[in-house]
Amino acid sequence: MTEVSENQVRDSVKDYYGKTLKTSDDLLTPACSTGASRMSKSVKKALGEVHDEVTIKYYGCGLVIPEKVEGTRILDLGSGSGRDCFALSKLVGEDGAIVGLDMTDEQLAVSRKYIDYHREKFGYKKANTEFVKGYIEKIVEAGLKEETFDIIVSNCVVNLSPDKKAVLSDAYKVLKVGGELYFSDIYADHDVPESARKHEVLWGECISGALWWKELYKLAEEIGFSQPRLVAATPVPVEREDFKKVLGDAKFASVTYRLFKLPEKREAARQVIYNGDITDHEKELKFDFKHSFKTGEPVAVDEELSTILTASRFKDDFDFQPCSASKTGCCPQKVDMVKDPFVYMIELESSGETLAPACAPTSDKKCC
Ligand SMILES: C[S@@+](CC[C@H](N)C(=O)[O-])C[C@H]1O[C@@H](n2cnc3c(N)ncnc32)[C@H](O)[C@@H]1O
Repeated sequence: MTEVSENQVRDSVKDYYGKTLKTSDDLLTPACSTGASRMSKSVKKALGEVHDEVTIKYYGCGLVIPEKVEGTRILDLGSGSGRDCFALSKLVGEDGAIVGLDMTDEQLAVSRKYIDYHREKFGYKKANTEFVKGYIEKIVEAGLKEETFDIIVSNCVVNLSPDKKAVLSDAYKVLKVGGELYFSDIYADHDVPESARKHEVLWGECISGALWWKELYKLAEEIGFSQPRLVAATPVPVEREDFKKVLGDAKFASVTYRLFKLPEKREAARQVIYNGDITDHEKELKFDFKHSFKTGEPVAVDEELSTILTASRFKDDFDFQPCSASKTGCCPQKVDMVKDPFVYMIELESSGETLAPACAPTSDKKCC
């Protein structure tokens, strides 16, 4: 896309979120399904404490609150009215910090209006949350410094960007080494037809800007991130006949991925044992669709996961042992983390497991 058409896309999205939509009830595609069951107690409580005016303007498509956020500095790309930021504000505690970045004045106005409300509610002397105006493709230009964030989250926003590579590249820059990008977005099961890309409403609804899920793996590799690790996936059915005509046979899903910025030096594959110290995950830490760490149980991990666990905020939560200590005496060298989320959703359904949460407690509402 040229600079001019990229600006047109952003202006149209600004209008959609600043002027057209007033609450999540105004959305035209029901993109969420109820899924509060797998939300941890603390997360449920924190979300429940967010002001109603912020919550009714929530347009997210997933749960972007990872484990172990206490004391961290978190950036939310496309923070909207600020729902995830305020919940995270409670969870990181007074010593943590949250920065929301958004380009739409009306959304920023709502989020900024409630900074002090949440500071008081959480009993903090000083607010730990701020909202910055800017583009997610130009995070550094918006004044956010390189290598200063422990975690970046984003909820249903990257699909709206006309330049997803720029978003992920800048996210990579502002993350600290060992930092994590944990985000939910809408993905398609193949490339969305070009005609649909030009449909302003479907773009604004977070549908026609959706990336083919495979593209995320390519982008992540080009930028230098670890392989995207699928955390949760939920189908997003588009029911309206006029929309279906535009979209052809493309299917959509809300998917949550976690990606890490890793040091150049990779750790060896190892056996790791989770110590159960993470709040709300005392018995088990579900890390991605393939890895779950039960407290006290050894798990053999490949080089990449060994590096992630050593370089990230999870390093004190594991005991690391050589592969020779494992039952088989060896570890996998490279686990392929590429997984079609559409196949994953079918597998989950047929195994009788409930799908992981796409939405927060307000998920009876439509959201994007
Ligand atoms: C679907 S809403 C999601 C808002 C929020 N994450 C939530 O869960 O409620 C998308 C938000 O991203 C913002 N946005 C979209 N494209 C953007 C861009 N290129 N740069 C900055 N903000 C953007 C919009 O202004 C809007 O507030």
